Amino acid sequence: MKWIVILVLAAAACGPDDKLTVEQLQDPNTCNDCHATHYTQWSGSMHAYAADDPVFIAMNRRGQRETNGALGKFCINCHAPMAVLNGTITDENAKDFDPNQLSPAERGITCYFCHNVEKVVSDHNNGLVLAMDTTMRGGAKNPVDSPAHHSKYDPLVRSDTNQSELCGSCHDIVLPNGVAIERTFKEWKEGVFSKPDSKLTCGNCHMKPSDGVIASKQGLSVISRPNGFHEHTFPGIDQALTPWPEMEAQAEGIREILEPSVAIVGPKPRTGTRSPGGICVDPQDGGRITVRLDSLNLGHSFPSGSAFDRRVWMEVTAYRMDNSIFFQSGKVPDLTDPEQIGDTKLFGLWDKALKTDGTSAHFFWDVASIDPTSRLLTGSVTFDQNDPRFDHAQTAKYTNLGNTSEIVRIEAALKIRPLPYETLRDLVASGDLDPAVIGQLKTLEPASARSTWLRSTAGTGLAVGTNCNPE
Ligand code: HEC
Ligand code: HEC
Ligand code: HEC
Ligand code: HEC
Ligand code: HEC
Repeated sequence: MKWIVILVLAAAACGPDDKLTVEQLQDPNTCNDCHATHYTQWSGSMHAYAADDPVFIAMNRRGQRETNGALGKFCINCHAPMAVLNGTITDENAKDFDPNQLSPAERGITCYFCHNVEKVVSDHNNGLVLAMDTTMRGGAKNPVDSPAHHSKYDPLVRSDTNQSELCGSCHDIVLPNGVAIERTFKEWKEGVFSKPDSKLTCGNCHMKPSDGVIASKQGLSVISRPNGFHEHTFPGIDQALTPWPEMEAQAEGIREILEPSVAIVGPKPRTGTRSPGGICVDPQDGGRITVRLDSLNLGHSFPSGSAFDRRVWMEVTAYRMDNSIFFQSGKVPDLTDPEQIGDTKLFGLWDKALKTDGTSAHFFWDVASIDPTSRLLTGSVTFDQNDPRFDHAQTAKYTNLGNTSEIVRIEAALKIRPLPYETLRDLVASGDLDPAVIGQLKTLEPASARSTWLRSTAGTGLAVGTNCNPE
C-alpha cells in the first residue's frame, strides 16, 4: 500500500511523459540542479533583476496612477513576462505590481521564458510566442537525453543561425503613440552586423561561447562540446541598485564589454594603421579643440535601448603651463545631471525625450517625441571605405577658445550614467522610490575613452604634420 502511494506521488510530480511538469520547469531553481553555472550567471543579470529593479517598480506604479490604469500590463509584459503569460498579472491588477508576491517562476525574464519560445510574431514590444510545453529549445545539436525536460536544437535560439529576433523583439519598444523609444533591434538591422558577410547577432556579441559540458549532475552522462557553453551574464550599462547576487561579476562584465567598444582615437581605414586625431588643437574657428569618439565592434548605437535615460558626456579640461585651467567642459558635480550645469559647449550623447509641450519627459507615458537634435554614437553601417557613412565617429568640437597656443595639456574622458538624477528625484518626490536608491547610481568611466594631449608630444610619431596626440 505504502509503495503505491509513493508511486502515485512520483507520477504526479512528473509530466505525462516522465519529464518534469511545465510548472516545475518554469522555476529557474529547477534548472540550477544541472545547469548551475548558467543559473549563477543569470541570477546576477538584469534579466533576473528586471521585475525587482526599484526604478522599474516605481515607474510602473506612478505610470498606472498617471494614466488611470491605461498602462495596464504593458511594462510587466517584458519585465516579468511569465507572470503575464500565466495570468497572474492582468491589466486590472498591474497597478499593484509587487515582485515579492510573485514566485521565482514568474519573477524577471526567466530561463523557461527564453528557452520555450516557439516563434516570433513581431519585431518589437515582445512578440515572442511560447509553446508552454516541456521542451527546452537551445543551440546545441543532438542533445543528450535529459531526465528533466525534452530538448530541441532550434536555429532560432542559436546565435550563429538566428537573425537576432529572439532578443530583438523585446529590445525594441514602440509606444502606443508610435514613438520608437527603444530601438536596439532596429539599429542592429540597419547596421553592418546584420549583413550576411559580416553577420554578428546579439548572442554572438553578448553570450561569449566556451568549450565544456552544458549540464552537470552526478549520474548524468554528457559530452564536452566545443563552444557548447554560452555566457548568461548579459552585462550592459545597468547594475543592480539594491543588494543582489553576483554584483562584482556584473561590474566586471560591464568593464569587459565597455572598454573595447568606445575609445577616444583617430580614424582607422578598413586595413592599415589608425591615423592620429583622438585629441587635436587648431587655430581654426577662433581656436579649437576636437575630441573624436569612435565605437568599435558595436552592433547598435551607443547608448542604445534606454537611450533617453542614459547620460553620456565628455569631460574636457585644457591646462596652461602654470596648471591653471584654460578651458573646461562637462565638469559635472556629483548628484547633478550634465544638462543642468549651464554648459553651452557640452558634448552629450542621449535621446532627448520631449512632452507635447516641448519640455523634457522623464517617463514613457509622457513621451510625445524624441528631439531630432539628439545625438548618439552609431555603430558601423558599412565596411565600404568609399561610402561617406564609413566613418561613423562623433567628434566633440569646442570652438572660439582664443589663443590655443597657451595650452600645454588636455585631459578628456567619457562619463556614463544609466539614469538622470532628475528622474530619480521626481520618483522620490511622488513617494514611489526609496531615496536610498539615488546614492547607488554609479558613473562609469571606461579607460579606453580617456585620453591626454600634451604639447610636448603632439605632432610626433604617427601624428607628424598635425597638432594631434599620437594615438
Ligand atoms: C536533471 C538535469 C537537468 C535539469 C534539472 C535541467 N536540465 Fe537542461 N539539460 C540537461 C541535459 C543532460 C542536457 C543535454 C546536454 C548535452 O546534450 O550536452 C540539457 C540541455 C538543455 C538545453 C540545450 C538544448 C539544446 O539542444 O540546445 C537547454 C536550453 C536546457 N537544457 C535548459 C534547461 C532549463 C531552462 C532548465 C530548467 C527549467 C533545465 N534545462 C533543467 C539536464 C537538465
Ligand atoms: C522578455 C523580454 C526580453 C528578452 C527576450 C531579452 N531581453 Fe534583454 N533585457 C530585457 C529587459 C527588460 C532588460 C532590463 C531589465 C532592467 O534593467 O530592469 C534587459 C537587459 C538586457 C541587457 C543589459 C542591458 C544593460 O544596459 O544593462 C542586455 C545586454 C540584454 N538584455 C541582452 C539580451 C540578449 C542578448 C537577449 C537574447 C539572447 C535578450 N536580452 C533577450 C528584456 C529582454
Ligand atoms: C534572455 C534569454 C535567455 C535567458 C533568460 C536564459 N537563456 Fe539560456 N540560452 C539563451 C540563448 C540565446 C542560448 C543559445 C546560445 C547559442 O547557442 O548561441 C542559450 C543557451 C543555453 C543552454 C545550452 C548551452 C549553452 O550554453 O549554449 C542552456 C543549458 C541554457 N541556456 C540554460 C539556461 C538556464 C538554466 C537559464 C536560467 C538560469 C537560462 N538559460 C536563461 C538565452 C537565454
Ligand atoms: C558587434 C557586437 C554587438 C552586437 C551584434 C550587439 N551588441 Fe549589444 N552591445 C555591444 C557592446 C560592445 C555594448 C556596450 C556598449 C554599449 O552600451 O552600447 C553593448 C550594449 C548593449 C546594451 C546596453 C546598451 C545601453 O546603452 O544601455 C543592450 C541592451 C544590448 N547591447 C543589447 C543588444 C541586442 C538586443 C542586440 C541584438 C539586436 C545586440 N546588443 C547586438 C555589442 C554588440
Ligand atoms: C518591449 C519590452 C519592454 C517594455 C514594454 C518595457 N520595457 Fe523596460 N526595458 C526593456 C529592455 C529591453 C530594457 C533594457 C534596455 C537597455 O538596457 O538599454 C529595459 C530597461 C528598463 C529599465 C532600466 C533601464 C533604465 O531605463 O534605467 C527600467 C527602469 C524600465 N525598463 C522601465 C520600464 C517601464 C516603467 C515600462 C513601462 C512604461 C517598461 N520598462 C516597458 C524592455 C521593455
